[in-house]
Amino acid sequence: MTEMMKAVQLHEFGGPEVLLYEDAPRPTLASDEVLVRVHAASLNPPDLYLRDGYRALPAEWRPNATFPLILGTDVSGVVAAVGDNVSQFALGDEVYAMVRFPEDLMKGSGAYAEYVSVPVSELAIKPAGINHIQAAGAPMSLLTAWQFLVELGHHAPNPFQSFDHAPRLLDGKTVLVNGAGGGVGHLAVQVARWRGARVIAVASSKHEALLRDLGAEQFVDYTTTSVEAAATDVDLVIDAVGGPHIESFLSVIKPGGAFFLVNPLGFSGHDAAAERGITVSSTQVRSNGAQLAEAGRLLNDGTIRVVIDSVYPLAEASDAHRRASRGSIQGKVVLSVV
Ligand SMILES: NC(=O)c1ccc[n+]([C@@H]2O[C@H](COP(=O)([O-])OP(=O)(O)OC[C@H]3O[C@@H](n4cnc5c(N)ncnc54)[C@H](OP(=O)(O)O)[C@@H]3O)[C@@H](O)[C@H]2O)c1
Repeated sequence: MTEMMKAVQLHEFGGPEVLLYEDAPRPTLASDEVLVRVHAASLNPPDLYLRDGYRALPAEWRPNATFPLILGTDVSGVVAAVGDNVSQFALGDEVYAMVRFPEDLMKGSGAYAEYVSVPVSELAIKPAGINHIQAAGAPMSLLTAWQFLVELGHHAPNPFQSFDHAPRLLDGKTVLVNGAGGGVGHLAVQVARWRGARVIAVASSKHEALLRDLGAEQFVDYTTTSVEAAATDVDLVIDAVGGPHIESFLSVIKPGGAFFLVNPLGFSGHDAAAERGITVSSTQVRSNGAQLAEAGRLLNDGTIRVVIDSVYPLAEASDAHRRASRGSIQGKVVLSVV
């Protein structure tokens, strides 16, 4: 008999109202997978894009989905079963992961549920010093900051450029983080600080106290101050916002510096950057259990903190998506599952 669970499923693309809390079959396990009893799952922008059927993309790029599908990549929970070839994890281990990303980008990785299957290579032991809500908030945002700023960790083809993204040495350098209050941004601030950088955080004013507390030396409120007027001689800008206006950041970067685009779509400043000797680079985050284990040490000892914007029960995932759509997120929006 098929074992069932509660999950938030989509039967069609659309607004937050298409997220339905209902019964669904528990995932089956491949031999190299672990079944995780989910305690918490966090929201990330790709969840909202997929819920909407990637409407912002040209029609030919949009997913041909098989419904029902279950959104969500980021989980923290407890190992409930292991596949035949799994020896690294045991029943009862507390674990966290970013699941099958970008492989399941267009079909959903299944984290908005009581159980999710996770390839063993994508799993890490949850840092004991933080709870499941905090751990669930980490994976995609932290792996993005890590793969941009510390170590790429793979040579998979890069959908945004023909060369591998290469992180830079940050010790003693000035790093400007745009979108610093959001999921990626607040972790990028802390990772850059930990790597020895002096950090300038750019965000709306409600994030100032937090970002100074997380280690930003300078804060720029983009709603009242032009970044070009407030910053100069920056070694590296990491932008976690996107959009055409971000080209203006080129003017604050030193010749020889770098501009890392977390959301590169629509950027057209490549020629201007080349003229000024600025390297522009981007990458797509990829699941990586080993990196989560390494970064987990920093979560465990408090060097890096996951800030929680808000928590919703799994059954209220549609309200969580409404919160995320309003923008101005501070840290992470998380679903509590048990
Ligand atoms: N390359 C990859 O693999 C990858 C991985 C993860 C995410 N992403 C992309 O990166 C972007 C950020 O993701 P996220 O998870 O960090 O999103 P998020 O949690 O929603 O954070 C976005 C942040 O940007 C701030 N913001 C909005 N407009 C701004 C502006 N004009 N200037 C400065 N800050 C502004 C918002 O707050 P305030 O307006 O209040 O400051 C918010 O805190 C998304 O586009 C996402 O798709 C890409």
